[in-house]
Amino acid sequence: MNASGVHCTNLDELDALLNEGVGAVVTKSCTLEYRVGNPEPRYATIPYGSINSMGLPNNGIKYYIDFIEKNQAETDKLIMLSVAGLSKTENLELLAIANQSAAIKIIELNLSCPNIPGKPQTGYDFDATESLLNEAFAICKKPIAVKLPPYFDMAHFEAMAEVLNKFPLAYVCCVNSIGNGMWIDTATESTVIKPKNGFGGIGGLFIKPTALANVRMFYKLLNNIDVVGCGGVQTGQDAFEHILCGASMVQIGTTLWEEGKTCFERISNELAEIMNVKGYNSINDFKGKLNEI
Ligand code: DHB
Repeated sequence: MNASGVHCTNLDELDALLNEGVGAVVTKSCTLEYRVGNPEPRYATIPYGSINSMGLPNNGIKYYIDFIEKNQAETDKLIMLSVAGLSKTENLELLAIANQSAAIKIIELNLSCPNIPGKPQTGYDFDATESLLNEAFAICKKPIAVKLPPYFDMAHFEAMAEVLNKFPLAYVCCVNSIGNGMWIDTATESTVIKPKNGFGGIGGLFIKPTALANVRMFYKLLNNIDVVGCGGVQTGQDAFEHILCGASMVQIGTTLWEEGKTCFERISNELAEIMNVKGYNSINDFKGKLNEI
């Protein structure tokens, strides 16, 4: 599936994804109202990946609910509604609205947008995450998943897993971009994106080791919650590695941005070829079965 934020903001992008070789589609993280987002340039291709500070440009929740209401009944692909309120109150309002639409089957609650000046990521505040999820599950009766930021310390993996294990989450997606990185163009002695004085979320191959570690750690620490892998998937081999670490599904962000929607078929074919060579018939034959030496 696509990673939220890439190829999923406007109807033409979403319609195109539905017609492509994707397993599932997630919409751009939305707020209650339309947002224009941060000033451009706000995405840059860099060696080994990307840097972005989009600033949550989106068409408002109603636009994405309309899309799901129009398409979910006619497709066998699951369409996830991604929500990213700028406050707890906004997140709860978004979930209450989503709860009222019969067409919506699942919601990806984004706890990890790094690009809004003055708004820390909820996923780095364990108490705030628990409090939000408590109220979210009280308000919204639909399956809820979460998109997490990357963690870098064993104590943080454990603290977050302890919170997440208290809730019947549909899945946990690891990881969003590594927040607030920087890339510099030496020739111009300049930042490469305009918002936040050049600070932005890092994606792509750069972040694969961090993504694999997060998938692996949450796969081990979570009880009966599926992990969805995201970060650095350029090839079937990268997808294979995410699944070996424990991912049940893989999201593609930077590669989709760079290559376009044909990446799904290419990566699926490459993954199928690796499975064929190894004699695996289903991802359950190797999911989570990483050799630890
Ligand atoms: C944006 C970036 C993210 O990584 C995210 O999770 C949500 C929004 C953005 O800048 O639009």
